[in-house]
Amino acid sequence: MNTATVHTNWNPHLYDDKHSFVFKYGEGLVDLLNPQAGERILDLGCGTGYLTSVIAAAGATVTGIDNSLEMITKAKAQYPELAFKVQSATEFYFDQHFDAIFSNAVLHWVLQKEMAIDCMYRNLKRSGRLVLEFGGKQNMAKIVTALQNSLISHGFAENAAIPLWYFPSVSEYTSLLEKRGFRVTYAAHFNRDTKLADTQNGIKDWVRMFGSSFLKGIDEPTIETILDEVQAALKPTQFKNGDWYADYKRLRIIAIK
Ligand code: BEZ
Repeated sequence: MNTATVHTNWNPHLYDDKHSFVFKYGEGLVDLLNPQAGERILDLGCGTGYLTSVIAAAGATVTGIDNSLEMITKAKAQYPELAFKVQSATEFYFDQHFDAIFSNAVLHWVLQKEMAIDCMYRNLKRSGRLVLEFGGKQNMAKIVTALQNSLISHGFAENAAIPLWYFPSVSEYTSLLEKRGFRVTYAAHFNRDTKLADTQNGIKDWVRMFGSSFLKGIDEPTIETILDEVQAALKPTQFKNGDWYADYKRLRIIAIK
């Protein structure tokens, strides 16, 4: 997967109903952004627009971009008063630069990370800030390892090796930002075991929603067998008090142009 396909095949209704934790956790990131009335802010990878609306409620002028037409269509329908555009994280351009660029749970999909960093730099005002959160080093290592093991044992080693996500360490990502000219003022990597919505099929749903590229070309009965195996393998560590948890590890960064 590359940037051109981030969010592209997602069902925006499933995303809102069963995976709303993605943007609910992002409210803490909006606090870190601390949007001010009158500021011009870009929400990069806005999905269905919930956090864009939270930022707008502070009085900022916000634009949300996402490369999924389906997501942007739903965002526009839900928040007709806000500005949304279909644009890619590696190729966006605005005539008027931003006071801040905000991005929650998106940049791990962007394998061309230098291009995204360059784009963010070029679209910020001097002294403008970046406020980012995405998956950091070892993000979902347990889920991914269980899935890869099962794929390999069923003869799908090529699927298991698909480069789908980028989960950097603090030093890796902050070095890239500094190389492009940013000054990093805050960086943290932390665990966030995340409760999944479905108490029966939490892990299976998660893989179907976010990791479907690993399952391409595999027939449905085999997919079901693989997902059952993955969920069973994860039960001892990821099922607690009747709920499934994904082993998320977050990277949060603030950087100044
Ligand atoms: C994350 O938020 O860490 C994430 C979500 C879906 C796929 C990969 C990572």
